[in-house]
Parts: sequence; C-alpha cells; structure tokens
Amino acid sequence: MKKQNSILTTPFEKLAFEDLSVFEQKLIEEAKQACQKSYSPYSHFEVGVAMALENGTIIQGANQENASFPAGLCAERVALAVCQAQYTGIAITHLAVMARRANTTAYLPISPCGICRQSLLEVELHQKNNMIVLLPQQNEYFYKIEKAAYLLPFQFDQSHL
Ligand code: THU
Repeated sequence: MKKQNSILTTPFEKLAFEDLSVFEQKLIEEAKQACQKSYSPYSHFEVGVAMALENGTIIQGANQENASFPAGLCAERVALAVCQAQYTGIAITHLAVMARRANTTAYLPISPCGICRQSLLEVELHQKNNMIVLLPQQNEYFYKIEKAAYLLPFQFDQSHL
C-alpha cells in the first residue's frame, strides 16, 4: 500500500451546553436570536451567528437570500462584513453558528460552508488572533474548535499569490 500523508486533522472538543462557559452559552443564545433575522424565503433555512469581538461587543448576523440565488449571503459573511465595516481592526475572538428550519423551534447541526471558511480564514490570518468556533451537533452538544483555520485543510491564502 502507498504511504498515506495527512496535512491536517481538526482538533476539537465536544462539550455539552452546560460545560460551555457562561460567555460561550450567551454567544449561543445570541446566535439563536440571530436566526430571527434570517431572510430565507427560498431555502427556508434560517442561519444565525454571533461573533464576539475583543472589545466585548457581540455582533449578530443572519443569512440574506436573493431571487438571484448566488447573490445571497451566508450568516457568517454578513456578520464578517458588519465587523469589518463597523469595528475595523478589532479582532473577532469567537464565532457561534446556529440554524433551524423556518417555522420550527429545534436547532440543527451546522458547519460553515466552504466559501465562509475561506472568508473566516482571511480575517483570522489578517487579525493574527485565533477565532474560536462553536458549532452545534446532535443532542445539545457543541464542537469547540480553537481556530477557524482548522476548518479548512489545504487552505489557499496570500502566501500563494
Ligand atoms: N447558510 C449560512 O448562512 N451559513 C452556513 O454556514 C451554511 C448555509 C445559508 C445559505 C442559504 O441562505 C441557506 O443557508 C441554505 O443553504
């Protein structure tokens, strides 16, 4: 058998909600609240995020869809744009993502899409500060990932240009 190489495995903690810090729990609650800001008449899939900044501010974002589907934006990139425009130069320390189907109350497991991973990576590299990522899994468990870069193996960044 040929030698197998491995470039990256994602280290993560799996934690019950009660085992998250009070701050992390608050962030999850803010991400749930943000789902209400979703404009998703096409997918009926509501995604809400909360981003914590190093100055203590919490920013919410929700997916914003468009009749021209590719013009829509994921919740993560909506929140990133708010942070970059309104809190320029202030590092994002945490990201929590939550999602549910419209007209339902149960939250679903979710993980950022590939484009959002690339966008999160750019910000994380630029700010030189890790962004802790909290993602909901089945049965009220959460994955806690120490930095956004761990979400994206074989990453493309400015060092390639
Ligand atoms: N979506 C997000 O907002 N974030 C994710 O992490 C995954 C997907 C949105 C995009 C689209 O509005 C809907 O979810 C269905 O794909």
